[in-house]
Amino acid sequence: MTHPVPIQFREPDLDSLATATGRIVILAGENGALGVGAKRVNKLARGAVERFVASDAFGKMKAGEAQDLAYPSGMAADAVQVVKLDRRADVSSARKAGGAIGRALSKTGTVVLVDALVRAAELSFGVAMRAYDFNPHKTGDKTIPGPVTLMVAGPEAVAAAASPLAALAEGVFFTRDLVNEPANVLTTDDFAARLAAMHELGLEVEILEEADLAKLGMGALLGVGQGSESPTKVVVMQWNGGAKGDAPLALVGKGVVFDTGGISIKSAGGMEEMTMDMGGAGVVAGVMRTLAMRQAKANVVGLVGIVENMPDGKAIRPGDVLTSMKGDTIEVINTDAEGRLLLADVMWYAQERFKPMGMIDLATLTGAIIVALGHENAGVFSNNDALCNAFLKAAAAEGEGAWRMPMGDAYDAKLKSRIADMMNVGGRDGGSITAAQFLKRFVKPETPWIHLDIAGTALLKSDSTLAPKGATGWGVMALNRLIRDMLENPKP
Ligand code: BES
Ligand code: ZN
Ligand code: MN
Repeated sequence: MTHPVPIQFREPDLDSLATATGRIVILAGENGALGVGAKRVNKLARGAVERFVASDAFGKMKAGEAQDLAYPSGMAADAVQVVKLDRRADVSSARKAGGAIGRALSKTGTVVLVDALVRAAELSFGVAMRAYDFNPHKTGDKTIPGPVTLMVAGPEAVAAAASPLAALAEGVFFTRDLVNEPANVLTTDDFAARLAAMHELGLEVEILEEADLAKLGMGALLGVGQGSESPTKVVVMQWNGGAKGDAPLALVGKGVVFDTGGISIKSAGGMEEMTMDMGGAGVVAGVMRTLAMRQAKANVVGLVGIVENMPDGKAIRPGDVLTSMKGDTIEVINTDAEGRLLLADVMWYAQERFKPMGMIDLATLTGAIIVALGHENAGVFSNNDALCNAFLKAAAAEGEGAWRMPMGDAYDAKLKSRIADMMNVGGRDGGSITAAQFLKRFVKPETPWIHLDIAGTALLKSDSTLAPKGATGWGVMALNRLIRDMLENPKP
């Protein structure tokens, strides 16, 4: 898997700057203020930094943005990167600045003079996050960044503050790798094996095979996988770092390794994007990895339904009736509305087995959520204001867009079937909401629940502040924070 670039924290050694190769990064405050290290670089470069921070170009830059001064005279470095950032910058500006650094790391190495920056650990997190590069399927020259050194006073304290963030970056990278991986590589078997390997980190991982799922009565989930050569699975990952006997938080993920639509086949244009239809399961896996790596003091169980939706002689048809584990019957109107079928069974199983204190499902569930919210916000649906507000707060703090959507009986009524207990689609209008209403039928009234529709946020066609184009890992940061704030440091 892809690992974050190693970042070393060292006491500043300003005498090394003249001969350092690669890139040197300095910070300049909003008013152009330079710290001790930045002043030294300015002197070596014969005043070039001072001229730049006095320019209109610098004036127009926003906090966290950067500009290269290429091939500075008086220095061996290829470039001095000047990042606009106050020493008291907030978390999001510090991460953004790190992102600007991380996108441009040198093969030879990068030295960052953070001078008096308070949030140096957050900056290092931004560097790691943005330096992600998914390259296992590229042959030839790969640009692997050289060592990154953060020169900072009191490096031990900064390294300690950066350690849980490094665990978070590992989790996000795990999610991104899974989401970027093509479906001929990330088969259902391969996905389950990657999750089973997390056993090494101290997670308890179980794989339920088709025979087990049949015994449990998971007719909805099994129906989705019926047309595929790859076996359907449920993987259960437990992290028990909290008090013994405390009910866990359950995270449930949609893991469709490829979604052709099935017999209700999708049109060809853009179908290749459906390798990301396991994004919900990818986020669940990334969160579990982070919890293990930072030894979280919380009980969390991650459950993912792993399946492939293919058209075939054995595939389910429109009009088929499936019986869910709960016992409710479902008339399949459209085989492309498969995510809700698998979630129905996995969510029911999660509640029956673990009696969770809360349940959050994640799924690239509907194209309609992209129509509603674009790629800036995931859709948030909930039956519990307290849990929902705690999540929205965590997402806002991490800069992950999340917007609550309405629910209600009138939407639910659209699911009425002539021949079964419900249909799997409720028509085109409000498609994300009727999908959420479908899921709610498989949530026990006593379970606080959030459904996150991440179809628009799991994968982006353009670069973002903390990720190159492709998989974002949206949600890992917010859920990690929610677990930290709600389970590890609960407010009395
Ligand atoms: N996996 C798709 C949703 C999706 C669309 C994810 C675009 C990412 C990007 C889901 O299984 C699906 O096909 N949904 C249908 C539902 C419809 C048949 C009711 C959709 O959105 O068209
Ligand atoms: Zn799908
Ligand atoms: Mn589909």
